[in-house]
Amino acid sequence: MNISIIGTGYVGLVTGACLAKLGHKVVCVDQLAARVLRISGGSAPFFEPGLQPLVEETIASGALSATVDLISAVQDSDVTLIAVGTPDADGHIDLSQIETASAAIGHALKSKPGYHVVAVKSTVVPGTTDGVVRAALEGAAGKVTGTDIGLCMNPEFLREGTAIEDFMAPDRIVIGASDARAAAVMQEVYASFDCPRVVMSLRNAEFTKYASNALLATLISFSNELASLCERTPGADAEIVMDGLHLDKRLSPVIDGHRVRPGILSYLRPSSGYGGSCLPKDIAALLAYARGKNVETPLLAAVAQVNAARTSAVLDLAEDRIGAFAGQRVGVLGLAFKSGTDDLRHSPAIHLVELLRDRGADVTVYDPVATDLARPLLNGTVKYAGGALEALEGSDVAIIGTAWPEWGELDWPKIRKAMRGNVIFDARNSLRSLDPPKDFKLYQIGNGG
Ligand SMILES: NC(=O)c1ccc[n+]([C@@H]2O[C@H](COP(=O)([O-])OP(=O)(O)OC[C@H]3O[C@@H](n4cnc5c(N)ncnc54)[C@H](O)[C@@H]3O)[C@@H](O)[C@H]2O)c1
Repeated sequence: MNISIIGTGYVGLVTGACLAKLGHKVVCVDQLAARVLRISGGSAPFFEPGLQPLVEETIASGALSATVDLISAVQDSDVTLIAVGTPDADGHIDLSQIETASAAIGHALKSKPGYHVVAVKSTVVPGTTDGVVRAALEGAAGKVTGTDIGLCMNPEFLREGTAIEDFMAPDRIVIGASDARAAAVMQEVYASFDCPRVVMSLRNAEFTKYASNALLATLISFSNELASLCERTPGADAEIVMDGLHLDKRLSPVIDGHRVRPGILSYLRPSSGYGGSCLPKDIAALLAYARGKNVETPLLAAVAQVNAARTSAVLDLAEDRIGAFAGQRVGVLGLAFKSGTDDLRHSPAIHLVELLRDRGADVTVYDPVATDLARPLLNGTVKYAGGALEALEGSDVAIIGTAWPEWGELDWPKIRKAMRGNVIFDARNSLRSLDPPKDFKLYQIGNGG
């Protein structure tokens, strides 16, 4: 099929490159000319494991192309996927990119003969596809949904860091559709996928994405509330408590004599809170949606509240154990919101660095892929290092901000010699499964000491 995709961020470009690999002819559209140029030259404009070779391969084969020309891209395709951003604006979802893109697609469809399906892949609050998107599309196209246009809502569940794997082998494909004809076209887009394809209404598809993210955020905040309790209870350790909890057969069933450990268990662990481009803004959007409907959602409000307080609680714990950070030289390893990505949006590690700086620490930061991207966020208020050893040279304390597996492979004895102090505070418990580095005092989260 000929598919156009509006927006070449993590969702748009991964979707485009994967669908091109699966045999579709895909054109990715972005308003950022520099980004389009990079993709057209076979380069991924951001870090995502496996994306670079996939973009290179699909651009070289001609299955994938990129352009700033939205009109031609839409007119030369059968289906258009909208994958633009839906950021937070003061606690509400900002639908301006969605509205602008929908109007531009409608404008392109005005002079395009034949039936065309438009599917929203971005995360949008219930009612958006049938409201803002439909109105902008129909208004600009002068055409009607159900006759000339098919409207779908096809939420994306990929996770940054494993985006290609997640896209290529999804748990399910959710297709919200205005009518059966539109749904059939989206079924064709995903014809080669061997997973349940669930067709539902537009609003149910929109809700399914929020339900999924709200559950994940709830598990994280539940774990962190428990971690906070353990942190103030000498002898308690939330990691051990969670190991015990995980062994409940309803969480990790025994099948054919083998215990299965579902991925969901990774959300039932102490951490420094959820971050990234999705969970924080999606929970805020759902809360605003609930307020707009006059529905009380105290559980969801508490999930956000626990998360908002978690990073400073983790730093309070560190100061209780190690002493005040004022005047200390601190090296922070990891800035991305999780390992495997360069995404810094709502990263707990960035928040941690800001708090350290505000508490008077002299901070040097390093991330394997995101150090340079952090410069505009942290400006000249911290120092930037080209490697872990450089970040920790002369420091009193090392803090792990992101659980990159690289930390396990560092030459810790050499780092120990280069540091002034001998303290590691592992705010991600990422060194937990390793032999603790020798000659260091290692502090972790979730335990009462
Ligand atoms: N990032 C994730 O892990 C993830 C996972 C699932 C769902 N989502 C959702 O998918 C959507 C996109 O997320 P993302 O992280 O890929 O966003 P992003 O901000 O990384 O990328 C959005 C892209 O859209 C482009 N764009 C915006 N308006 C445009 C227009 N009118 N014409 C052409 N290009 C335009 C921007 O320039 C940008 O490159 C969001 O709604 C997000 O919540 C994201």
